[in-house]
Amino acid sequence: KTLDDLTDIAGKRVLVRVDLNVPVSDGKVSDTTRIERVAPTIRELSDKGAKVILLAHFGRPKGEPVADQSLSLIAPTVEEVLDHQVAFASDCIGAPATDAIAKMENGDILLLENTRFHKGEEKNAPEFVAELAKNGDIFVNDAFSTAHRAHASTEGLAHHMPAYAGRTMQAELEALEKGLGKPVRPVVAIVGGAKVSTKIDLLSNLVKKVDALVIGGGMANTFLAAKGINVGKSLCEHDLAETAKQIMATAEASGCAIVLPVDGVVAREFKAGAENETVAIDAIPADAMVLDVGPKSIEAINDWISKAATLVWNGPLGAFEIAPFDAATVAAAKHAAARTREGKLVSVAGGGDTVSALNHAGVADDFSYVSTAGGAFLEWMEGKELPGVAVLIAEK
Ligand code: 3PG
Repeated sequence: KTLDDLTDIAGKRVLVRVDLNVPVSDGKVSDTTRIERVAPTIRELSDKGAKVILLAHFGRPKGEPVADQSLSLIAPTVEEVLDHQVAFASDCIGAPATDAIAKMENGDILLLENTRFHKGEEKNAPEFVAELAKNGDIFVNDAFSTAHRAHASTEGLAHHMPAYAGRTMQAELEALEKGLGKPVRPVVAIVGGAKVSTKIDLLSNLVKKVDALVIGGGMANTFLAAKGINVGKSLCEHDLAETAKQIMATAEASGCAIVLPVDGVVAREFKAGAENETVAIDAIPADAMVLDVGPKSIEAINDWISKAATLVWNGPLGAFEIAPFDAATVAAAKHAAARTREGKLVSVAGGGDTVSALNHAGVADDFSYVSTAGGAFLEWMEGKELPGVAVLIAEK
């Protein structure tokens, strides 16, 4: 159920789970994307006359109040983005919350303190869920990026009252459905990043679902090494050679092409502007490391992007934070963006560094959908059920 199903909510207390886990530097929110993403849901509920009560976590405070993880630090930015007054309650349960809610008029917005200041949040403890539930009539979850957590405010609450997906949750699920749920084929996945070890489940799932899997970044070296290629001083998890071989075997059995680099840009030091050269992948000097995939590989990757009707992307192809080793990531991102603009590609990207990489390439806005989720996006790519989503479907 979505907000379309929520009519007649004037005066109702709506508990809205949002993700305000935003980066802060020098006490200021340095990236407001997540706040902007949940703004439409908050505005819509407020415009419909609901009493909008925001629940969120910030950081990982381990069940106790920590001053620099108080949501009071984020509240002014939420107010600024919404261009609407946002009251703040110093606890998400008990008198501070109930008193603040009692003062609310229809359309008012209230932010409750960090749910993770209570141990019951992460434990999804029934007593804590019941305390939270006292404060609302309706539950709206607009935090896909925390949906991989079975916490009180992401999962437990949905069992206590009518539960709905917010606009961002809805958009995210629709985009993901187009990405891997019922995608238009061919589907190409690009997976990069440093280590295979963090993405074994993800790679194992993707090779069964997509038509081609492009492997880039440091993790490509583990696959190359497993094929007997000498990767010099490159980042490589030699102990995962067997895992890499298994993933390649599953891919072959499922008819998924594995696209590995055929050339690489190598350097002797990991720093911006380091002296570098392009070499064939079977000619990596023993004292050098691959920091980006080379031009022939970019061409091959872009050919796959051209053939694809759907692209799912997680992780950069090279060390995109340090020029010139951002070249492959930028080139592929621009090509995917252009194909998307032409209406020829559905492109879905997400997870940690990926958003920064697409922003760096200046094309994040051109993708069909860029998820702000980190862990949740990865678990979705792994094919896992996300408790925060499952409960919304089950409680329909
Ligand atoms: C995130 O930042 O990915 C989400 O807010 C979830 O945070 P967590 O990993 O601390 O649960």
